[in-house]
Amino acid sequence: MSKVKLNLIAAACENMGIGVNGTLPWRLKKEMAFFNKMTTKVKDPAKTNAIIMGRKTWDSIPNQFRPLNKRVNIVLTSQVNSLKENVSEEVIVVPSLDEAIEYINGRPDIESTWVIGGSYVYKAAIEHPNCDKIYLTEIQNTFNCDIFFPNIDKQKFHLIEEDGVPTEKQTEGDISYYFRIYKRL
Ligand SMILES: NC(=O)c1ccc[n+]([C@@H]2O[C@H](COP(=O)([O-])OP(=O)(O)OC[C@H]3O[C@@H](n4cnc5c(N)ncnc54)[C@H](OP(=O)(O)O)[C@@H]3O)[C@@H](O)[C@H]2O)c1
Repeated sequence: MSKVKLNLIAAACENMGIGVNGTLPWRLKKEMAFFNKMTTKVKDPAKTNAIIMGRKTWDSIPNQFRPLNKRVNIVLTSQVNSLKENVSEEVIVVPSLDEAIEYINGRPDIESTWVIGGSYVYKAAIEHPNCDKIYLTEIQNTFNCDIFFPNIDKQKFHLIEEDGVPTEKQTEGDISYYFRIYKRL
C-alpha cells in the first residue's frame, strides 16, 4: 500500500446533500476560505498539496478559478484523452483514484492529498484503504440537493479535534455550521 493518505473535505447540509444542478446549494464565503486554507497550507514551503476531484466537480469550478491555484489539480474521468485536450498541461487527468494515488506517490514534492468531491469520488475515497480523515462542514440547515455525501461508518471513523480547526458553531447570515473531523480508527 502506498504512503499517500487521503483527506476528504466536503460541506454537507442536514440531509447530507452536497450539490444541486451541478453547483453548490449555498454560498458560504468563510466556509470556502476554510476549504482553500486547508487544501493549500503546507508545513514545508518547498512542497505543494494535491487535490483530487471528479470531472463534474472540475466542470463546476468557474473557468477563471481553475485549476485551483497553489495546488496540483488531479481530475478523474473515464474520458482521459478528450479532457486532456480541454485543460491546461499542469492539470493531471487520470482514469481512476488508484492512478491518482500512483501519480502522487511519484511526486515527493506533494505534501498532502485532498479529495474534494463529488459524490462518486468521495465514495471511492472513503472505501479506499488509504483514506485517513474526513473534514466535513456540517451545515445545520436543509437545502434542496441532488447529490449526497456517502455514509460515514461511525464504527470505522471517530470524531477528533485538530489545532487550527475551530470547534465552535460558525454562522454566516442565517446559515450555521460546524467544522468536524472524522479520523479512521
Ligand atoms: N459540498 C461540497 O463539498 C461539494 C464538493 C464537490 C462537489 N460538490 C458538488 O457535487 C456535484 C458534482 O459531483 P458529482 O458527484 O455529480 O460528480 P463528480 O464526482 O465530481 O464527477 C463525476 C465524474 O467524475 C468521473 N469519475 C468519478 N469517479 C471516478 C472514478 N473512480 N474513476 C474514474 N472517473 C471517475 C466521471 O467522469 P466522466 O463522466 O468524465 O467519465 C464521473 O462522471 C456538483 O453539484 C458540485 O457543486 C459539492
